[in-house]
Amino acid sequence: MGSSKLIDNFGRVHNNLRISVTDRCNLRCVYCMPENVQFLDSKELLSFEEINAFVNIAVTRGINKVRLTGGEPLLRRDLHKLVEYLSKIEQIQDISLTTNGMLLTNQAKALKEAGLKRITISLDTLIPDRFQDLCKRDGLEQTLEGIDAAINLGFQNIKLNSVCIKGINDDEVENLAKFAREKQIEIRFIEYMPIGANPWEKAKVLLAHEILEKIDSAISPLIPAGNYDPMAPAMEFIYEDGKGKVGIIASVSKPFCKSCNRIRITAEGKLRNCLFALEETDIKPFLRPNLNAEGILKALDYNISSKWPGHQFNTNDFIKPNRTMHAIGG
Ligand code: 5AD
Ligand code: SF4
Repeated sequence: MGSSKLIDNFGRVHNNLRISVTDRCNLRCVYCMPENVQFLDSKELLSFEEINAFVNIAVTRGINKVRLTGGEPLLRRDLHKLVEYLSKIEQIQDISLTTNGMLLTNQAKALKEAGLKRITISLDTLIPDRFQDLCKRDGLEQTLEGIDAAINLGFQNIKLNSVCIKGINDDEVENLAKFAREKQIEIRFIEYMPIGANPWEKAKVLLAHEILEKIDSAISPLIPAGNYDPMAPAMEFIYEDGKGKVGIIASVSKPFCKSCNRIRITAEGKLRNCLFALEETDIKPFLRPNLNAEGILKALDYNISSKWPGHQFNTNDFIKPNRTMHAIGG
């Protein structure tokens, strides 16, 4: 045991682990979570030591990339300590973080020193009142400061994530793209997916080609990037003048499930083989009170072997998972 890879029934090799460290968030973005939520009790959360023990086992099956997510991961106290643990694991080649940026100003330095390589910051609007409407909290200024803090610390790979929804913020695609271009960081537009608390309507999804057309005509033509990979989650483009990069995550119009290499672990230790999975595998009993490595490997194998071909949200068969995004981790 312990040497084979995490390959599912469709031949997909899983090397990418997304770790949610909390289900709490300091925003309430309407496309992600409801206003009132029952959060997990802190006793339920896996400790950093438990997460570290799990990752040390997962790497023996080929996991070599991890991303820390939430809720808002920076709400978890001393997150840099977890980064420190993970950066000591030899097989891990890449540690990244997805955050809303609100708490980044104070934490970016400790995270960098602990070994964090890449940060993705969510930013859906540059209009303060709209931030309040969309995220249900005041926070644009703090987010922008967080972005600058990360840039000033010299993180090499900072990306912005934007979800643009028709009738809400689709008029900001151009300005968000310009903002990223001026800051010399990549921006990725994610098509709006049916995973939030609000009822999802396909008609509200701003589609990849519509995003590209807006940027093309307002800023500069985009051309596929050299490493353009139609199977990767983000289709990457560069501006024709070479000044900047734009990614599009076309989860709705061009699902990338065929090349999915991701598994997820929730803050309370449930394995999810898909963002939209309806079933989970609990690994906490193998971490608490005592570590049971064999049990964890079996749980991983079981979870991967039950992975489906992909989400069905372009069909009538789609069933929305009970968990909303904040409790899964993006
Ligand atoms: N559709 C698309 N992206 C979403 N995110 C959260 N909810 C949705 C949704 N319904 C994004 C966030 C964040 C990332 C973790 O997932 O904007 O950038
Ligand atoms: Fe992978 Fe599921 Fe996302 Fe498809 S929807 S890419 S299978 S996580």
